[in-house]
Amino acid sequence: MADGSSGLVGQRELVLITEDDWESQRDIRTAALADAPDMFGSTLADALGFDEQDWRRGIRATTCWQLRQAGMPVGMVRLSVREGGADCDRVVPAAPGRTAYLISMFVAPEARGTGAGEQLVATVAAEAKRLGYQQLWLDVAKHNEAAARLYTRTGFRWAESDGASRHDDRHCELSMVLDL
Ligand SMILES: CC(C)(COP(=O)(O)OP(=O)(O)OC[C@H]1O[C@@H](n2cnc3c(N)ncnc32)[C@H](O)[C@@H]1OP(=O)(O)O)[C@@H](O)C(=O)NCCC(=O)NCCS
Repeated sequence: MADGSSGLVGQRELVLITEDDWESQRDIRTAALADAPDMFGSTLADALGFDEQDWRRGIRATTCWQLRQAGMPVGMVRLSVREGGADCDRVVPAAPGRTAYLISMFVAPEARGTGAGEQLVATVAAEAKRLGYQQLWLDVAKHNEAAARLYTRTGFRWAESDGASRHDDRHCELSMVLDL
């Protein structure tokens, strides 16, 4: 069990999920993509094209937490590891060339403004540190002020710009980093 991976926030429960939770993961992820289509690198159309095996593979490739209220997911976040410019197919301990990323952060509108986002960040940071990473990275859409405030408040700083912010026609992301 990951450090700090489970616990209660009021009546909310933070749950480290397994691939057998793929249906609730599909539900909260598609809710996130529908609620905030400009804040993520992938789209609702991408997610609606996934089958059960795709969702299971996505969960196995990352460490995923859901925030649940009355058993229903109201938030989620994932830890992912990249190596050699590609996503690893599972979360592995720190080693040269590997980078830990916080991805897929979402708190449903009815659960916002109660510290849920801060708890999800702290959970991912604790797990990345436990795995030996000295930094945790994330990408945030340039215009996502609420998320940038959350990340700044929890200790992230803007990464040195090399002019290489990732963007396509609909999306521009900047990197932030937290020293663990
Ligand atoms: C960005 C996002 C995750 C923030 O979630 P959140 O749970 O509202 O975050 P927090 O609760 O930590 O903080 C939100 C606000 O509530 C306030 N707050 C924090 N703890 C609080 C508490 N216990 N009681 C009342 N207010 C609180 C914070 O001060 C903050 O205010 P601010 O935004 O004016 O600075 C959420 O808005 C979201 O899911 N947005 C859409 C998807 C998205 O943008 N994801 C990020 C992709 S990079």
